[in-house]
Amino acid sequence: MSLQEARSHIAAARAITILTGAGISADSGVPTFRGTEGLWRNYRAEDLATPEAFARDPRLVWEWYSWRRELIATKQPNPAHLALAELERRRPETFWLITQNVDGLHRAAGSQCLSEIHGNIWKMRCTGCGLVSDNREVPLPILPTCLQCGGLLRPHIVWFGESLLEEDLRRCDEALRSCDLLLVIGTSGMVYPAAGFASVAKEGGALVIEINLESTQQSNLVDLSLQGRAKDLVPLLL
Ligand code: OAD
Repeated sequence: MSLQEARSHIAAARAITILTGAGISADSGVPTFRGTEGLWRNYRAEDLATPEAFARDPRLVWEWYSWRRELIATKQPNPAHLALAELERRRPETFWLITQNVDGLHRAAGSQCLSEIHGNIWKMRCTGCGLVSDNREVPLPILPTCLQCGGLLRPHIVWFGESLLEEDLRRCDEALRSCDLLLVIGTSGMVYPAAGFASVAKEGGALVIEINLESTQQSNLVDLSLQGRAKDLVPLLL
């Protein structure tokens, strides 16, 4: 399938679902997780992104998230984020965006029909009363506490070993099974359940197109694998 044919399929699609990963934000300057420049090269997920790590050393975990918040605060949505927001504006009823990214750049670009399945770095959750709050403070106090009950706050992020929200899973399943086109952008396809989403969409009969800098675990499964930068290819396709 050529790029031109892919464009025609997208234009003719009845319902479109998008799955994004860190690669779409790489073009905004946000580091990815895997690969030579990835965060997991220099940091161990077990020390920073698990409930056990937070129980053991909340200060260390918050320092890492605080550093990432400071970095992300300086970044802007790129043409790929903006093209997806524009596509949603054109067809809000037949569009759903699933992102694994916690950076909030899709929302900043104007996307509203989306599931942030791994949470959002600009939200916090109280470990005491469970209250979820928005917080854009940068830099953060070292151990932020809940305004409602004084409990310790944690990042509102789904860590390794934790489950996605039921509501998000249900919404994603619906979007994957009902779409006739799935666009998978900038994800290595290594982390479940998102790594299984392309298969779910294919089982439902959807055409699956991947955009990535390189071939991935999923490239053999998809109908078309386009290699290049998300910020160039996504606007071109849409
Ligand atoms: P990864 O870091 O695993 O993969 C990023 C993918 O983006 C790779 O396949 C790259 O080849 C590709 N990529 C890099 N730059 C690109 C560009 N400019 N254009 C297109 N593609 C590009 O990130 P994810 O797949 O998102 O979990 O990782 C999944 C989850 O693992 C993350 O959500 C995170 C992490 O641990 C949590 O934070 C809970």
